[in-house]
Amino acid sequence: MIIKNFKEIKKIRIACSLASKVLENIKKYIKPGITTENLDKICNIYIIKKLNSIPACLGYNGFPKSVCISVNDVVCHGIPKNNQKLKTGDIVNIDVTILKNGFFGDTSKMFIVGKTNNSNKLLCNIAKKSLYLSIYKIKPGIKLNIIGNTIEKFIKSKKIYSIVKDYCGHGIGKKFHELPQILHFKTKKNNLILKKGMIFTIEPMINLGKKEVIISKDGWTVKTKDKSLSAQYEHTILVTLNGCEIMTLRKDENIPKIIT
Ligand code: MF3
Ligand code: CO
Ligand code: CO
Repeated sequence: MIIKNFKEIKKIRIACSLASKVLENIKKYIKPGITTENLDKICNIYIIKKLNSIPACLGYNGFPKSVCISVNDVVCHGIPKNNQKLKTGDIVNIDVTILKNGFFGDTSKMFIVGKTNNSNKLLCNIAKKSLYLSIYKIKPGIKLNIIGNTIEKFIKSKKIYSIVKDYCGHGIGKKFHELPQILHFKTKKNNLILKKGMIFTIEPMINLGKKEVIISKDGWTVKTKDKSLSAQYEHTILVTLNGCEIMTLRKDENIPKIIT
């Protein structure tokens, strides 16, 4: 079902707020020298013990860890590793999906390890802004492709960045990945009309170089082909009567939860 009822929305709202808590909690551990495997373990324990929830990535299509951690030129689906230490200047995406009481919530953000250069900071900010600009457009009665059109218009205006086309956002609810697919680039597809009660993720991946990606031998880790850095932010969004609700909003964000 593409339209969620009130009971379903309540449960998805809980899963989403728990997922955003994982990102709030992990921030203090992002320091030079920590391994991505250690960050994964901290998230795993927090999700299971503190939030009484299930880390949905663990075992999903065989994914071996509880969260995805994607560093620098890794675009998405990075597997946490015991031989991967964060270093000053790295840019890191952590992508958390929670399963709670039969419903999913999915969100990710970028972290900067110590200080990084302005071009890396800008890449992260541009990726975040592309997500926010698309969120501001969401309301009933308009076409789903407003999302990709908005993101592409913004990213194209910036010249040096590209949008990854191989991965997309998705409906979410009783299943981790539901229809519809949410494309992050300009398209004539995605012409479904938005309706109150739809819930989906928006999760643009923006490269500081070319859009092409390659999948590593581990079968998961997606990297930029040209080794340029990549940034991604993801929120789960509910279409409301006159706008939308950012179901995975965190305290550190400068955007309203309810947008009208
Ligand atoms: N959380 C990712 C998404 O945004 C999916 C990760 S699937 C995994 O859709 F198996 F890699 F965890
Ligand atoms: Co995700
Ligand atoms: Co997602």
